[in-house]
Amino acid sequence: MTVDHSDQAAAMAGPAAQPSPRAQGTLASAQAVTASSHAGAGVGGDPVLQIEGLCVDYGYTANPTHVLRGVDLTLRRGEVLGLAGESGCGKSTLAYAALRLLPPPGLVTGGRVWLHDEAGGRRDILTMTDRELRASRWVDTAIVFQGAMNSLNPVFRIGDQIMDAIRAHRPRSSARERQARAGDLLDMVGIAKDRLTSYPHQLSGGMRQRVMIAMALALEPQVLIMDEPTTALDVVMQRQIVEQIAELRHRLGFSVIFITHDVSLLIEIADRIAIMYAGQIVEQGPAQAMYRAARHPYTQALLASFPPLHGQKKELTGIPGAPPDLARPIVGCPYAPRCRFTMAECRVSDPALGHSVVATDDPSRMVACHLHDCHTELPEVLAQPWP
Ligand SMILES: Nc1ncnc2c1ncn2[C@@H]1O[C@H](COP(=O)(O)OP(=O)(O)OP(=O)(O)O)[C@@H](O)[C@H]1O
Ligand code: SF4
Ligand SMILES: [Mg+2]
Repeated sequence: MTVDHSDQAAAMAGPAAQPSPRAQGTLASAQAVTASSHAGAGVGGDPVLQIEGLCVDYGYTANPTHVLRGVDLTLRRGEVLGLAGESGCGKSTLAYAALRLLPPPGLVTGGRVWLHDEAGGRRDILTMTDRELRASRWVDTAIVFQGAMNSLNPVFRIGDQIMDAIRAHRPRSSARERQARAGDLLDMVGIAKDRLTSYPHQLSGGMRQRVMIAMALALEPQVLIMDEPTTALDVVMQRQIVEQIAELRHRLGFSVIFITHDVSLLIEIADRIAIMYAGQIVEQGPAQAMYRAARHPYTQALLASFPPLHGQKKELTGIPGAPPDLARPIVGCPYAPRCRFTMAECRVSDPALGHSVVATDDPSRMVACHLHDCHTELPEVLAQPWP
């Protein structure tokens, strides 16, 4: 069940394509705004959740681990934004921090998380009062936690657990209304209403995960964050759940951040994809374009490590080395020790997220790599034409 955690943030005061000029800012904040305002342009509608320069540390010591290092990400109204990256890159931390659910010893040390309404107003989730936050949770934003299907209470019937969640946010609703709503929610995720009286152990893993999705949708939030919602399921169940999420999104019109380490899965469900590495977004853009023509060496390597969805079989390649230790200072590009194309400047300067150098790319395609700084030719594998 989604729970209210302690409020950490309150403590925070083809042939090689033609190059095009790349937007570059001088100040980190200016880059953050540029990246955010362009992210998603041409895909989807207005922003509904806008993360700007989000920084998170773990540990209250003098030497904390810098897990999020200035993340910029925009979710647009009605879209599914896929967030992928290797284990430990900070995906869950991003989700929790953005919704102010970060457990100790996590601490938001900078950034903004704007929640936009349809009338054009916006509120920063990180500076909401506790009361505003309570009123906003479930109604504006909801999350399905990683491993959520195991968080149902084993000694209560699932109907009671769903009704509890509804009662917490709609205390004036009658028992009959809650019962009807709980039944409708189960129905919505393809589970028969008579299962309201089942205990969690009487449901399959896929059904338990659907119950969690139903609970998250109980108050019809605008934004739903799903952290690895299908990872523990077999591929058949995975597909069913993904199709169901897509169908619900079309029917109810909410926006989704779908977190996974499985990039192939994202091609099936996401409108746009963002790739994360060592606590930063290194590439983002329309899903199909990212899949067909990666522009960042890490995205290209990540895609090469998954089997293709269609077409001929290909030999899979791993990514040599390991992600950097976020407890130590990182100088230069964090991917430099593993990158095939490392240059001298990569060792000293961390590339900012800017526009792809490939002229035909959608303006929403953003890349954090010095190869896109125009003064060098893009390697052929990163210059595949698209569309
Ligand atoms: N409570 C904690 N204390 C210290 N470090 C933490 C804590 N929780 C997470 N981390 C570190 O933060 C980093 C990011 O963790 P996070 O769980 O956000 O990654 P992730 O991308 O979601 O990984 P996965 O794909 O395995 O779920 C990791 O290096 C992890 O070791
Ligand atoms: S900035 Fe340099 S090291 Fe980093 S991904 Fe680009 S080419 Fe590789
Ligand atoms: Mg995670």
